[in-house]
Amino acid sequence: MNILKLLQMKGKEPIVMITAYDYPTAKIASEAGVDLILVGDSLANVVLGYDSTLPANMDEMLEHIRAVRRGAPDAFIIGDMPFLSYEVSPEEAVKNAGLMLKAGANAVKLEGGSEQVETIKKIISAGIPVMGHLGFTPQSVNLLGGHRVQGRTPESREKLLNDALALEKVGCFAIVLELVVEDVAKQITEALKIPTIGIGAGRYCDGQVLVFHDVVGLTDKEFKFVKKYANVYNVMLEAVKNYKEDVKNRKFPEEKNVFLE
Ligand code: KIV
Ligand code: NA
Repeated sequence: MNILKLLQMKGKEPIVMITAYDYPTAKIASEAGVDLILVGDSLANVVLGYDSTLPANMDEMLEHIRAVRRGAPDAFIIGDMPFLSYEVSPEEAVKNAGLMLKAGANAVKLEGGSEQVETIKKIISAGIPVMGHLGFTPQSVNLLGGHRVQGRTPESREKLLNDALALEKVGCFAIVLELVVEDVAKQITEALKIPTIGIGAGRYCDGQVLVFHDVVGLTDKEFKFVKKYANVYNVMLEAVKNYKEDVKNRKFPEEKNVFLE
């Protein structure tokens, strides 16, 4: 996979992206044949237990990018730029994006529209591909007043479309659309030459992204826009309960598990 192949998939073949954070899940994602792996700053919520993505920092993101790269040596990996790693100055943004590539990412993603154009231009001119992210942008949850579907008013629809066009114009290779009214995501997808990748953005995006833990059901949360393909939480719970019972009842270890000499 590379950004040229990705552009060619638009209108021909749906793009599959998954957020993964570590060695074993990256290994599974790449063995399953997904097109893109995002090391998302949703790490903060999903793996570290915070209630927003804001606490995620560069050191954590780099550690997890390295782990994902070790699990998926051949995958196209996108590093998600955490809150405050690109807002302060374009120079800092280039530096942080570059650190993500040094850690093993092939590209970076950052949130925002027209206001990020100068920053994105700088990052791209350093040779780093950038994926955009519009709609509900979790790093702005405080400004947006919660997890809200975007594109519900004519002004919001217009802003989303203009931001998408601005991101395409500055050279983003793809755009994530998060929690966007389906018809608005469709309009944006049709207006762009670069692919859109949706999460809670309906059926007409060029691709879809979900978080690994949501796909396999390793979470206690339920979202309308997620399809749970397994219930790994319960599988794990049963396994650990059985382990506990076996030890309590002296059923583990068995003779086959011990070293007799
Ligand atoms: O952090 C993340 O996992 C994301 C995707 C949901 C797009 O940004
Ligand atoms: Na993210």
